[in-house]
Amino acid sequence: MAEADGDQFSPAAPGPAAAAAVPAAPAPVDLRSDTVTRPTPGMRAAMAAAEVGDDVYAEDPTVNALEAEVAALFGHEAALFAPTGSMANQIAIQLLVPPGEELLCDADAHVVTYEIGAAAAVGGVSTRTWSPVGADLDPEVVAAMVRPDGYHAVPTRAIAVEQTHNRGGGGVIPLATLGQLRRIADEAGVGLHCDGARIWHAHVADGVPLATYGALFDTLSVCLSKGLGAPVGSLVVGSAERIAWGRTIRKRMGGGMRQAGVLAAAGRYALRHHVERLADDHARAARLADALAPFGVLAGPVRTNIVPLDLTKCGFDAPALGAAARERGVLVSVLGPRIARLVTHHDLDDTGVDRAIAVLTELFRR
Ligand SMILES: Cc1ncc(COP(=O)(O)O)c(C=O)c1O
Repeated sequence: MAEADGDQFSPAAPGPAAAAAVPAAPAPVDLRSDTVTRPTPGMRAAMAAAEVGDDVYAEDPTVNALEAEVAALFGHEAALFAPTGSMANQIAIQLLVPPGEELLCDADAHVVTYEIGAAAAVGGVSTRTWSPVGADLDPEVVAAMVRPDGYHAVPTRAIAVEQTHNRGGGGVIPLATLGQLRRIADEAGVGLHCDGARIWHAHVADGVPLATYGALFDTLSVCLSKGLGAPVGSLVVGSAERIAWGRTIRKRMGGGMRQAGVLAAAGRYALRHHVERLADDHARAARLADALAPFGVLAGPVRTNIVPLDLTKCGFDAPALGAAARERGVLVSVLGPRIARLVTHHDLDDTGVDRAIAVLTELFRR
């Protein structure tokens, strides 16, 4: 039995069998999502050093600093730290849409695809969707869907868009389109929400200032735990009045955290160190796309860190590709019978991309 020395546990010395063991296989190249990243040593140091307090009393200085910084980045009055992007979206939806009234969004939007019916189940919100078009949305189609107050009708209270669009292959909605949507929302007197889990990627890809995006929306949700590489955390951004009510909604949903400054510190670190480097993730996604394009498997153009695959014209279905790639040390996301996805992120380097290209091109060549 190995002995503990103070608070250091000394593991048993490796026996002869372990000494002769073959070197461990390299860790898989994980292209499933940009949520798989682990905090860097610098981020962990920032977390360890964070000043904290009870955030339900609004007394955590690090959370308060993060909220003020993010509000300022988007040119809004206030922001609210939430544990997840899903909760941040759902708080924003409840801020804009009363129970029994309506939110419009893309049929592939995260808020209606991957949040387990929360808009209806938690917010009592009715949703109506336009056909999935990713980032290529036509504002006139949305305008035609807006329903005014009236006898028997479910009135539209808000429109939500996703920037970048996750199931839309990481596409970036052009600024001009968003401007048109803002005018449509103003004319109709409805709110406009941005699910900006990856708005940082749009900012880096198109060079649009975050405050320019901020000015277009009544509420935004932005994630620290996707491309930015923090372990936890999202924020809702909006007016001081809305965010004050959002604090109540967050508590009601069980999202009031106590000494959350250790998490907010990771987010503050990520904002300082991990935004501009997203250009590297985009370049790696473009390299993957260039290598796979000759096999006719790209579902669309690659603008940011997501490479969407449509396997209809190749010999694989998506689960078979996922299994074959996994056996060879590459993890991909299977999103449907013929749809898969590769995502680049902070924990993926050029060597990982080379390995993924070698494995996937070898499989597609069969
Ligand atoms: C576009 C988008 N919005 C919201 C979320 C939700 O984030 P979370 O997993 O933190 O709830 C995700 C998660 O991947 C996402 O891709």
